[in-house]
Amino acid sequence: MTELHKIALQILSNGKGILAADESTATMTKRLESVNVHSDENNRLLFRQTLFSSSSMSKYIGGVILYDETIRQLTSNGKTIPELIKSSGSLVGIKVDTGAKILAGSKDEKITEGLDGLRERLNDYYELGARFTKWRGVYLISDKYPSKLSISSNAHALARYAALVQESRMVPIIEPEVLMDGNHTVKDCLIKTSEVISKCYEELELNKVDLKGTILKPNMILPGKKSSEKISNEEIAELTLECLKNNVPSSVPGIAFLSGGQTEIEATANLNQINIKNNTGFIMTYSYGRALQQSALKFWSKDINNVVGTQTIFDHRAKMCSLAAKGKWSKSFEIS
Ligand code: 13P
Repeated sequence: MTELHKIALQILSNGKGILAADESTATMTKRLESVNVHSDENNRLLFRQTLFSSSSMSKYIGGVILYDETIRQLTSNGKTIPELIKSSGSLVGIKVDTGAKILAGSKDEKITEGLDGLRERLNDYYELGARFTKWRGVYLISDKYPSKLSISSNAHALARYAALVQESRMVPIIEPEVLMDGNHTVKDCLIKTSEVISKCYEELELNKVDLKGTILKPNMILPGKKSSEKISNEEIAELTLECLKNNVPSSVPGIAFLSGGQTEIEATANLNQINIKNNTGFIMTYSYGRALQQSALKFWSKDINNVVGTQTIFDHRAKMCSLAAKGKWSKSFEIS
């Protein structure tokens, strides 16, 4: 087994998943201001350090994705953030794209940037302790979107990113996110997500990426947020599995879903059903941002020095996600 394959399995195996704590400063500011906390470097550090020192880290979190600011920060007891994460046996990841900008030639769609100078930045992150990375391509969905241009240019960027990351001895997370915004049907989501994912693998193979040393981070197959379509967790799971089985090569070791605006309970219930029905051979787990942090953030905002209380909330959420990654979650385990 190659080193990269081992890293991917270490992150995803045994009911573990990924904590996506890589919000850019702009996104984190939005999250903090939504709960009336001032966004400064110290407060961003304090919240994240509270999560990263919780007891669930060693049990349920195989890897944490960080943002550039965080990977360089020192905790209050003098350890670096990467040292704190590694002390729980979890691996350090880093978001390496520099964000999505308007795609020339398409009025509303975006292309993710960050390839220029990436090789040098990757060396720096490796030295800081990172062993895996993330790049997110983002796709609008409607009757005319995503366009062929958006599908092919984002797939090309994702593949060039992944090849550079493997050259730097790290595992790339490949994240093509078809957004939930819109009134599209679940069938539309299935068709468009399949097209997006299949193009990504075409480009990844062209760029000679070793798929065993990668992780896919896709959206689940869901109706649009504004759609009136009612659909069960079982149907979501079946369609999501159909999409992945038909479009992801079997050499990929595992899939870690984004939560993408689902509530904590929805993201947990859907992942649970996916694992109950999983007939794909892929590990199916979580790489959640909001669906792991939302309740903890809300609680923390009321008293940012209440470390134990915040960790209790986060530990519960992480445990629920881990049960779902094994298909063993039940709604009755939730505390209201
Ligand atoms: P959400 O789970 O909040 O969608 O965040 C995951 C992520 O990393 C998006 O890039």
